[in-house]
Amino acid sequence: MVLQLRVYVPPHPLIKHWLAVARDESTPSVLFRSAMTELGRWLTYEAIRDWLPITETQIQTPLAPCPASFINPEIPIAVVPILRAGLSLLEGAQGLLPLASIYHLGLVRNEETLEPSCYLNKLPTQFNSETRVLISDPMLATGGSIMMAMQELTRRGVNPALVRVIAVVAAPPALQKLNSVYPELVIYSAAVDERLNENGFIVPGLGDAGDRTYGT
Ligand code: PRP
Repeated sequence: MVLQLRVYVPPHPLIKHWLAVARDESTPSVLFRSAMTELGRWLTYEAIRDWLPITETQIQTPLAPCPASFINPEIPIAVVPILRAGLSLLEGAQGLLPLASIYHLGLVRNEETLEPSCYLNKLPTQFNSETRVLISDPMLATGGSIMMAMQELTRRGVNPALVRVIAVVAAPPALQKLNSVYPELVIYSAAVDERLNENGFIVPGLGDAGDRTYGT
């Protein structure tokens, strides 16, 4: 698979550990939620390295003047969790981006057609074109949901080059779809899995992240 899209699988032991906990079918819901929070935290940490806007200035330490870098407060930062499962990554992401605005997007996949539909859209009518957007969704399977999310964002003025996606497991069909329309997008995923089964589930994957998060 040749992609222009950048897909990073951070080689961090904490990401590997929490991915293993999340994948394990014997992990109970309460621990699954912890795993998702931790994955949200560490994937966000990796994803925002070269994405957070910095402003350079000069400060005075108790001893001497010193050059300093701060996060630029004038550039808006947004986190868009794709409900329901994307909420499980939000707590970890929000801990690192306390000033970000959170815009919820509720998408659900039809179990037969696998087509997504939108039941909640809290996105603003228009984004500042410099807004950094972090999308959280644990699973990129057929890619229908993430494509719908990207379409809703870009039609409101978001620049795809300023979007980062954090996911736990990504499958080739989703990456191919994103690559064909948003090659400038950057994805951080704990794993890229092999394939989808006949029901559109990622294999080996982690099952249904929404159901496992909420015990439903
Ligand atoms: C799951 C998952 C993704 C989507 C991925 O959500 O959380 O959002 O499916 O599938 P796709 O790439 O084929 O669109 P689901 O529709 O099961 O809703 P949920 O998060 O409420 O469980």
